[in-house]
Amino acid sequence: MKVAVVGATGMVGEVMLKVLAERNFPISELLLVASARSVGKKLSYKGKEHTIIGLETAVAARPDIAIFSAGGDTSLEWAPKFAEVGTTVVDNSSAWRMDASKKLVVPEINASELTASDKIIANPNCSTIQLVMALNPLHKKYQMKRVVISTYQSVSGTGVKAVKQLENEMAGVQGEMAYPYPINRNALPHCDVFLENGYTKEEMKLAREPQKILDDRTFSVSATAVRIPTAGGHSESVNVEFHNDFDLAEVRQLLSETPGVTVQDNPDTNTYPMPIYAHDKDDVFVGRIRRDETQRNTLNMWIVSDNLRKGAATNAVQIAEYLVENKLV
Ligand SMILES: NC(=O)c1ccc[n+]([C@@H]2O[C@H](COP(=O)([O-])OP(=O)(O)OC[C@H]3O[C@@H](n4cnc5c(N)ncnc54)[C@H](OP(=O)(O)O)[C@@H]3O)[C@@H](O)[C@H]2O)c1
Repeated sequence: MKVAVVGATGMVGEVMLKVLAERNFPISELLLVASARSVGKKLSYKGKEHTIIGLETAVAARPDIAIFSAGGDTSLEWAPKFAEVGTTVVDNSSAWRMDASKKLVVPEINASELTASDKIIANPNCSTIQLVMALNPLHKKYQMKRVVISTYQSVSGTGVKAVKQLENEMAGVQGEMAYPYPINRNALPHCDVFLENGYTKEEMKLAREPQKILDDRTFSVSATAVRIPTAGGHSESVNVEFHNDFDLAEVRQLLSETPGVTVQDNPDTNTYPMPIYAHDKDDVFVGRIRRDETQRNTLNMWIVSDNLRKGAATNAVQIAEYLVENKLV
């Protein structure tokens, strides 16, 4: 496969190259693409140096697959240009996720929807991916009615600038701000931009994307997204009301049998998921599984995953693997 990684110099791009190498993705030619600021710089992949190229040069090279992690505007403008020359784009931005003509894919859940005519495929939001990975098996069994989620999101979810802001603040150095307030020793109830309804865009992604991925509009999601000064992954406190009652042991069993999900849940040994341990892993970790004693058929749980891996790079590479394995590119 001739593969282009668009946004190769970014936070997600760096992990994308790591994941492609680790999984030994079949690459005959690799095109590393970034903005004009980076063209001509070098990056290495599997020990070999590659020169960063611009988007126009990359389109002219007609790659088989282009994995985009370069922001929504870049995707809106450039993904169609790649699609026009026959490239299949897997896009990490929010540009195409809710477009009715584009698939929104978590491979473990709905990769079978993909066909060779899908030329722009959307990767869901990082906090959505880890949420639906845990909800899907439970929804199938008990049928969800309503989900209430509060997130505790890592600064790496905002990109290179935000990680730098945290590092600067921890070192007592003045520098560029990615957020309107300090993030060190703080919690910002503000992920992505505010919308007219008073929610942030991140909260609305969490509300809408799960319905599209699970192909079911009969349940609702209400979200509060909070940025905290962690770097390893996103954490989520999730309250799920089901139509049907459940057995806690069965819930644990269902989750532990789900590929890509690991249950870490033992209060006796202080065992529960945490971002520093989820860091650099592909799985979605679930713990603190308990019955909500205030309401019927309702479950509480805590979900943690590395937002740059399953939340972005790993999920995108899994989509690309599915396309190759099923001869859809
Ligand atoms: N961070 C996460 O956890 C996460 C998770 C899921 C999805 N995403 C999405 O992935 C994308 C990248 O996020 P990130 O965190 O990696 O951001 P980032 O660290 O700021 O990196 C942005 C990347 O995009 C490139 N870029 C920016 N403008 C461009 C342009 N006009 N043309 C070509 N390349 C351009 C940058 O290249 P230069 O270095 O040349 O500026 C850089 O490689 C965003 O759409 C984000 O929403 C992020």
